[in-house]
Amino acid sequence: MKHGSLLRRLWAATVFVFTYLLIGPTASMAASLPCDLYASGGTPCVAAHSTTRALFANYNGSLYQVKRASDGQTKDIGLLAKGGYANAATQDAFCAGTTCIISVIYDQTTNLNHLTVEPKGGNGGADNGVPADALPITAGGVKVYGASFSGVMGYRNVATTRVATSGSPEAMYMVTSGTHYNGACCFDYGNAETSITDTGNGHMDAINFGSECWFSPCIGSGPWVQADLENGLFQSGAGPSQDSTYTGDTEPYVTAMLKNDGQTSFALKHGNAQSGTLATSYSGALPTGGYTPMHLEGSIVLGTGGDNSNGSIGSFFEGVMTTGVSSDSVDNAVQANIVSVGYGGPTSVSGTLSQDSTISLKATTTCCTTRSISQQSGGTAQSGTVDTAVVTSSSSLSARQDATWIVRAGLADSTCYSFESRDYPGEFMRHFNFHIYRQPMDGSLQFRQDATFCAETGKSGQGKSFASYNYPTRYLRHYNNILYVSTDGGTNDFDSATSWAADVSWLITAPLAP
Ligand code: AHR
Ligand code: AHR
Ligand code: AHR
Repeated sequence: MKHGSLLRRLWAATVFVFTYLLIGPTASMAASLPCDLYASGGTPCVAAHSTTRALFANYNGSLYQVKRASDGQTKDIGLLAKGGYANAATQDAFCAGTTCIISVIYDQTTNLNHLTVEPKGGNGGADNGVPADALPITAGGVKVYGASFSGVMGYRNVATTRVATSGSPEAMYMVTSGTHYNGACCFDYGNAETSITDTGNGHMDAINFGSECWFSPCIGSGPWVQADLENGLFQSGAGPSQDSTYTGDTEPYVTAMLKNDGQTSFALKHGNAQSGTLATSYSGALPTGGYTPMHLEGSIVLGTGGDNSNGSIGSFFEGVMTTGVSSDSVDNAVQANIVSVGYGGPTSVSGTLSQDSTISLKATTTCCTTRSISQQSGGTAQSGTVDTAVVTSSSSLSARQDATWIVRAGLADSTCYSFESRDYPGEFMRHFNFHIYRQPMDGSLQFRQDATFCAETGKSGQGKSFASYNYPTRYLRHYNNILYVSTDGGTNDFDSATSWAADVSWLITAPLAP
């Protein structure tokens, strides 16, 4: 450690202690946010991005900017309070009746390393911004939006300030999702090339999250937290995982961390962003062959590979990059703070058909009163079918989560409803060929309409019935325990008039997985 930096740390500690003695634990000191924690450890954030919350207790600026399709106007989305959570209502009002993309994700540090939509690169055409309302979630007890990436979506800053270059040390983390990923290159957040082309080994130092196994054998099926150091997604210095217990992170919210001293060593950590602590899947030597020292260029990438390879999908809620390698105790404090956010937790209203309430939908036909609408993918990401299943309060947590939905404003019409999966944030019930699936919102008008259902009094007189927004004679119906949108007495077998009224009538109940 250099002399100057030791003195600076001593001075910072002294100032902290004196301030504490003088004014006591103020609200902002009590609630140290990730960048406050990194600063206290002497490894300050040089970039801090989030669409959900402030990452400094004193931050009171904008989190991101949305751009609407109707007139091309933009709007900055800020916080409900200093050091707090995003003001999603501003976005909802500005984007009402049209669609919005996230056009900028602001850097909360004074470096202003903002992320804008990534242009064409060495491998992949120009990207799109993510649909601004594709990933409604709960954080800090309020509704906020995450950033949901389909393919050909990404953000970049090629002219940053204070981000590590050459062989300088840095650390970074992001909160992402283990239920929205794929095996294509490369859902990354971190340091990349300024030219948006592959300039060789060691020119990247980014967190990668996905199921692409670059160095086999991989253990389990992922998705894994990996280091994209360029021309390789590393789980260790040798390439493949050296942690036989690490089969991937499949939780809805995942903390992914990468630390790299730029000279000889790097480390990877992962954890459930909703509970518990971080585990280290690797801590050791950097790969050989151009990675020692690193050749960092200091561009920041989000959602694609260094050369803009943009086949990957993923979710982003928050992330930071530091200067210097953070200590394990700071990493632990950052994880504890992330857990305290309560990402995806239940909202205050539950069991009612009202926006952001968590519910289950129970069949009313006499055959089937133990059955609720339930996604059926069994844990595989993307595009599960949605049917009815027997689920009770004594069923497994995963079965109860499969049968739990978050009521959202209708994606095509806010007077109607869309139903977001409890354990697949950003994925909604939608019909396709009149069958019901659970799929990620892709921002298209077709998806928005297929995922919007308008509530009426239950056709049998019990509960509610849900008319398809774009096929208004068709209602959400179970038939042979499979879910459809069905017309009373229509031409398909699942349109059968027998017990139609009961099959389209649903009880809104308390969520099976609160
Ligand atoms: O290292 C994996 C990927 O390989 C990088 O992200 C990209 O630049 C290259 O195609
Ligand atoms: O479910 C009926 C239609 O099938 C949907 O509107 C469309 O997405 C698909 O072709
Ligand atoms: O979905 C279960 C039953 O299957 C429905 O109640 C009936 O219409 C069909 O036979």
